[in-house]
Amino acid sequence: MGERPNTGTGQGARHVAIIMDGNGRWAKKRGLPRSVGHQRGVEAVRRLVRAVEPMGLDCLTLYAFSSENWKRSEDEVDDLMNLMRKFIKSDLAEFIANGVKLKIIGDWRSLAPDIVAMLEDALEQTSKGTQTLAVALNYGAQNEIARAATRAAQAGEITTASIDANLDTHDLPPLDLLIRTSGEVRLSNFLLWQAAYAEMLFVDTLWPDFKPEHLQQALDDFGTRERRYGGR
Ligand code: IPE
Ligand code: IPE
Ligand code: MG
Repeated sequence: MGERPNTGTGQGARHVAIIMDGNGRWAKKRGLPRSVGHQRGVEAVRRLVRAVEPMGLDCLTLYAFSSENWKRSEDEVDDLMNLMRKFIKSDLAEFIANGVKLKIIGDWRSLAPDIVAMLEDALEQTSKGTQTLAVALNYGAQNEIARAATRAAQAGEITTASIDANLDTHDLPPLDLLIRTSGEVRLSNFLLWQAAYAEMLFVDTLWPDFKPEHLQQALDDFGTRERRYGGR
């Protein structure tokens, strides 16, 4: 993430990240259990990943499970973990066929051992892909920065460049656009460092209702923004 993207307007986004929020409210509005909202949330992910190829992105990063989401009920956490297992099983072959390169950010190695093994296998099998799908699992930006700073200090010096080079996202392009669904206007510990000069878009759509057209609209809107990075 060390390089600076170009200033000015009209640049296409290379790296978009999404805080996929609102599954619970989507279900509640329909009198359905939260688990159904999460299932429909997975379908929204699948729909988006299938559509993203022609949009010209190098990387799409999705916030799937935060390090704070462990505070939810055991049942809900189990539902989310089981959806993850199911999703990898059902969609891995399609990722490989479509040139999707999976990347995981966050403290994912402390998830259940079977999930860690599935993810390691998926990372290996998609390693030749050209378009990155980065999934934030057990992710918290403050923890990511603390881990990066620790490694930077061990290697010599703590500088912005050395922290940057040790973030989980070190091999991803600079973050251009951060989108949050569901009307909440906060970052909830997501990509705090990387968002320093990202454009932001907060939309009211609940995540299960989010369609590829919404992302296309966001990319069109991004193209009209003037990015200055402090200069004039
Ligand atoms: C996002 O939807 C999914 C995760 C955080 C895993 P929520 O479950 O947060 O839905 P709301 O915010 O309660 O509507
Ligand atoms: C952020 O959503 C985490 C994910 C989308 C995975 P939350 O629903 O957990 O965030 P808060 O609790 O509203 O801040
Ligand atoms: Mg939420």
